[in-house]
Amino acid sequence: MRVAVIGAGVIGLSTALCIHQQFHSLVPSLDMEVYADHYTPHTTSDGAAGLWQPYLSDQGNLQETLWNKETFDYLLRHLGSPAAREMGLFLISGYNLFTQPVPDPSWKNIVLGFRNLTPKELELFPGYSYGWFNTALMLEGRSYLPWLTDRLTERGVKFFHKKVESFQELFAQGVEVVINCTGMRAGHLQPDPELQPGRGQVIKVQAPWVKHFIITHDIKSGIYNSPYIIPGSEFTVLGGIYQHGNWSEENSAQDHKTIWENCCRLLPALQNTKIVGEWSGLRPARPRVRLERETRGPGQCPAEVIHNYGHGGFGITIHWGCAMEAARLFGNILQEKQPGSPALPRL
Ligand code: FAD
Ligand code: BEZ
Repeated sequence: MRVAVIGAGVIGLSTALCIHQQFHSLVPSLDMEVYADHYTPHTTSDGAAGLWQPYLSDQGNLQETLWNKETFDYLLRHLGSPAAREMGLFLISGYNLFTQPVPDPSWKNIVLGFRNLTPKELELFPGYSYGWFNTALMLEGRSYLPWLTDRLTERGVKFFHKKVESFQELFAQGVEVVINCTGMRAGHLQPDPELQPGRGQVIKVQAPWVKHFIITHDIKSGIYNSPYIIPGSEFTVLGGIYQHGNWSEENSAQDHKTIWENCCRLLPALQNTKIVGEWSGLRPARPRVRLERETRGPGQCPAEVIHNYGHGGFGITIHWGCAMEAARLFGNILQEKQPGSPALPRL
């Protein structure tokens, strides 16, 4: 059975791995291929800071909160394994800052040690009168994507460096199930007016003395449109820019100035740090993740697509929960194609 995953960001690679892990022994003929025109280190997932943190509220989307939790708990289990370092996975603690009191986030009981800031802690951040402290996880795409690629290669999954022009192109070659993990460019394969770019830009600096993330929130300017500082394993990431509807992947001098001035105001010690890089990327923003099965075309062997895209500014945070859900949908397809097959695993 030929299965093609389109996309080699965190969503495509993790979905491919999850499906292969769960079904390769049940379906010996499982033949999995990954198609992408950009591979690590050239995907949005490589540019992301890699902090596990969902948006502040799930806006009634309990399903996404559950996928976020599934991902956090999965990663927490890996933390004790020798693979954690190679995966780019480690614990990190830090601050979320506000100018006024806000409700607790949907994820307060998922992270470790969530609490409100004390007055003494707030004195560290002039201009902010409310905040939280918690321990979360970092999963750096620059390490995690190569790690996923190695796991898939070991399993015999094949990689093709090419742009897919249509789903039909793959079905015509004999592919039976397509998994669509094309992120921001999903609309090119099937129009989706709900999918919009949320352009971001970050500056990378050498500041190994920064040990905590600091994320500020300005309710008026929206998510990730006010300064944040996130220390990583090799450099510290300074943001935050969020421009809805802007397709530009070029770095902007104006945005550079905004990030630099705002982050230096937040943490004045940054002023003398060395800038080691700059990057712009597009968050695949959508009112909710598109994770569903679509059966295309009539006939005895209908073509199946599983869509898994639209993870906005939380693709790393939610990826494994979504991969598990895509695997459940894949299991349903198998059951229908081979009704007499042995019981599929309970996922
Ligand atoms: P991508 O990584 O963009 O991968 C898409 C893949 O699809 C690529 O391989 C591409 O080549 C392929 N593709 C698309 N169309 C085709 C086609 N027609 N044919 C062949 N291949 C195709 N999230 C977090 O959880 N934590 C963070 O700290 C974080 N920080 C961020 C900071 C910034 C500045 C930005 C912009 C985003 C951040 N995000 C963060 C969000 C995160 O980066 C995204 O949600 C995530 O990368 C989306 O992953 P993806 O696999 O869907 O897309
Ligand atoms: C972002 O810029 O999208 C982002 C920053 C920190 C954590 C998660 C996402």
